[in-house]
Amino acid sequence: MVEFIVTPWEVKGKVDYKKLIEQFGLKELTPEILEKIKKYTKQLHFLLRRRIFFAHRDLDWLLAEFEKGNKFYLYTGRGPSGKTHIGHLIPWILTKWLQDKFDAKLYFQMTNDEKFLFKRELTLEKVDEFMYENMLDVIAIGFNPRKTKIIRDIQDISLLYPEALKVARHLTFSTVKAVFGFKESSNVGQIFFTCLQSVPAFIESVLRKRNVPCLIPLAVDQDPHFRITRDVAPKLGYYKPAIVHSKFLPSLKGIGEKMSSSEPETCVFTTDPPEQVEKKIMNAFTGGRDTAQEQRKYGGNPQICPVYYYYLFFFEQDDKKLKEIEESCKSGKTLCGECKRMLIEKINKFLKEHQRKREKARRIVNKFLLK
Ligand code: TYM
Repeated sequence: MVEFIVTPWEVKGKVDYKKLIEQFGLKELTPEILEKIKKYTKQLHFLLRRRIFFAHRDLDWLLAEFEKGNKFYLYTGRGPSGKTHIGHLIPWILTKWLQDKFDAKLYFQMTNDEKFLFKRELTLEKVDEFMYENMLDVIAIGFNPRKTKIIRDIQDISLLYPEALKVARHLTFSTVKAVFGFKESSNVGQIFFTCLQSVPAFIESVLRKRNVPCLIPLAVDQDPHFRITRDVAPKLGYYKPAIVHSKFLPSLKGIGEKMSSSEPETCVFTTDPPEQVEKKIMNAFTGGRDTAQEQRKYGGNPQICPVYYYYLFFFEQDDKKLKEIEESCKSGKTLCGECKRMLIEKINKFLKEHQRKREKARRIVNKFLLK
């Protein structure tokens, strides 16, 4: 029986990240490798410290190159199929930190073509509306405009297409079928699409006419694309991109599902007003007991509680305070209502600031676009 599925277009079941490491052939993020990062960054970002980013490919190689003076660039992206939710921000937050710490250039890909091909209900106009809104979220994260370029697949196709063709010539239908599970009935655009997601993983090498290492922060659902890139890039004379993988911020329904825009009531969008956040969080599943009395007596279970996971992944960056939240849940001291109210306050504080930066971003979108 398949317990869980992770592909770029579907995440189902409770993901066992240890098993996924084996299935995908990833390396675990070990204390040794984190020490190597710390050598350059002084502190470790809480997303690394807490192993929200839990796995990698060739990060050790990338750091060894950096040590030798061979600087890397960053690459990540978004498929604009709807509004941005707070789960999407997780890879971007680490990317921004890496940009600052390693003074790295970033290519941020907007796969408007992908979403048109994979979501029948979307028109080209609609994906571009979402893309613009999503770009505001990306910019609000605070990326350095002098070091960040947003690639919009459809608008920037003349840059991408010659390179995508080179990838395509090395890629058979049987490989994409095996990696992504396509069927005879899949449209031909879907079959070709991964070639376009590959290109930014070596675009800096193309433009600079010399090999430049690349690091891709992402959540683990996107890894299959880059298994293909890592296979093809050396055949084109480029380095394999290094990757660092994050876990999924769960849905408000429970930790067995990832936060997904397709279920708006169980996810927090970056544009949600405070009342909506309150409503969604108050309705969230928790690791609490059936009655307050039982909870006081036996305590709750943070390990199965999305509310706790939101603190862990995002809203309590102080390890000591996080421990206190965990302990006072387990001991029955804090009840779920109280814990939820605290979280609502934290989310709304974050969103107020994010929404302010989003509005400011409207004035500087142009600075991030490719000329
Ligand atoms: P997309 O738009 O599905 O997701 C954008 C980024 O968010 C991650 N993600 C999550 N992270 C934590 N918790 C969640 N619940 C969650 N849901 C999604 C995704 O892994 C991704 O990193 N095809 C891509 C766009 C893309 C891309 C890339 C992503 C193009 N090039 C390079 C990463 C790296 C997509 O549709 O992502």
